[in-house]
Amino acid sequence: MAFIRFPDDFLFGASSSAHQVEGNNVHNQWWDFEQRESAVKNGHKSGAACDHYNRFEEDFDMLHALKHQAHRLSFEWSRFFPESPKKLNHEAVEHYHRVVDKLILLGITPFVTTFHFSMPLWFAQMGGFEREENLRHYIAFVEFLAEEYKQVKFWNTINEPNIYASFAYLIAEYPPAKKNARLALTVLKNLLKAHGQAYRVIKEVQPDAQVGLVLHMPVFAPLRKGDVWHKFAARLADWMFNGIVLEALKTGNIRFPAGLFEHHDYLRNSNDFIGLNYYVRMFASPKHTVATALNMLDADHSAFVRTGNERLTQSGWATYPKGLYKCLKRLHNELGLPMYITENGIATDDDEWRSQFIRKHLKQVAKAHSKGMDVRGYFYWSNLDNFEWTYGFEPTFGLIAVDYENDFKRTIRQSAWDYAQIIVDRGFEEEEKQRVEEIQIEAASGEIIPQQAK
Ligand code: FCB
Repeated sequence: MAFIRFPDDFLFGASSSAHQVEGNNVHNQWWDFEQRESAVKNGHKSGAACDHYNRFEEDFDMLHALKHQAHRLSFEWSRFFPESPKKLNHEAVEHYHRVVDKLILLGITPFVTTFHFSMPLWFAQMGGFEREENLRHYIAFVEFLAEEYKQVKFWNTINEPNIYASFAYLIAEYPPAKKNARLALTVLKNLLKAHGQAYRVIKEVQPDAQVGLVLHMPVFAPLRKGDVWHKFAARLADWMFNGIVLEALKTGNIRFPAGLFEHHDYLRNSNDFIGLNYYVRMFASPKHTVATALNMLDADHSAFVRTGNERLTQSGWATYPKGLYKCLKRLHNELGLPMYITENGIATDDDEWRSQFIRKHLKQVAKAHSKGMDVRGYFYWSNLDNFEWTYGFEPTFGLIAVDYENDFKRTIRQSAWDYAQIIVDRGFEEEEKQRVEEIQIEAASGEIIPQQAK
């Protein structure tokens, strides 16, 4: 048996976002979108979500009992400025003071995201991030937050610019659900600029704060191994999805397909750390990659994640723990910044699988440590089951189950206790059985090519 150990100052916690848990965010564009028939699977609407807005104290007490040391959450922009950028809602200001103060009182460090997919309807109606001149509203909001919440020392600017741009403007699953490749690129560019400007604004107000962008990085692999066109498709998908953003952060160059190019020097030094959201390996074929890029694919991006062999999660994803190490290594090599895993989780009703998932991914983090990489924390997605965007309430990612029919009753799952044990022990013993399983999975996925019998 080997003990997988974590440094004493490594932070363990969980991650969430306002619209997915709070409930009744009636002034944002998601709420509006959910009213459309078939916008969300099974006709679900976020509604009261987990009623976390009213139950945050109870929820944070649970995190404390579960030994969490940090918590990632987002501040809902549409609660601060529900009707216009000029009219501040003081109730929201007080509410989020109580939220962060409660966390701090419990010894749980808050990591606050300023944009996690939801925006006030008025902002969406003026074109949201499609129009560069609108960025000033987001920046003003961020400046307000930095001035108001000095007790917050860790800020995430934008959550997953690549997911937001592609899901809202290419795949058209998130509002405003437009299929327009040109707009997708414009939005991505504007989000990067918004991030760079938000970074500067926060640092001016709070020079001692740590600020970083949150990237979603899938690992892309060729659907047909060894096929040169599939390999090319995987590289292309990776460049479009991960490469463009990484290059922008590294060099300040925003380099888009068809030769579009802009340089913004301030992007080069716009992160104190980088947040990594890691979930999935995706398999690319020329058909899927090109069709997505050209925006012709009919919401069948799920085709990206299957080879046919692997066990899929409730959200239809193929887990691939080793990919976490690959992403950390790439970020380390390309950006050389401290890293936090700001999201990593699994939607499943098999809670034992969740426990294994966490261990397997943490093992990859420990490997990164052993190679000298600066990984400072891990946030499981999510502490609660919640409103999973277009999937509705069906996928259960939570360490804690929520019974929506029964007064939002919370039930702590065994995986949450297992995770708590890891936090207390600063690591875990890796069992022989697990190692054998891993070898078997690798062999089944074709990663290990068996030697020919002589
Ligand atoms: C990420 C999102 C998060 C949640 C997880 C499952 O892409 O940031 O809000 O939906 O996926």
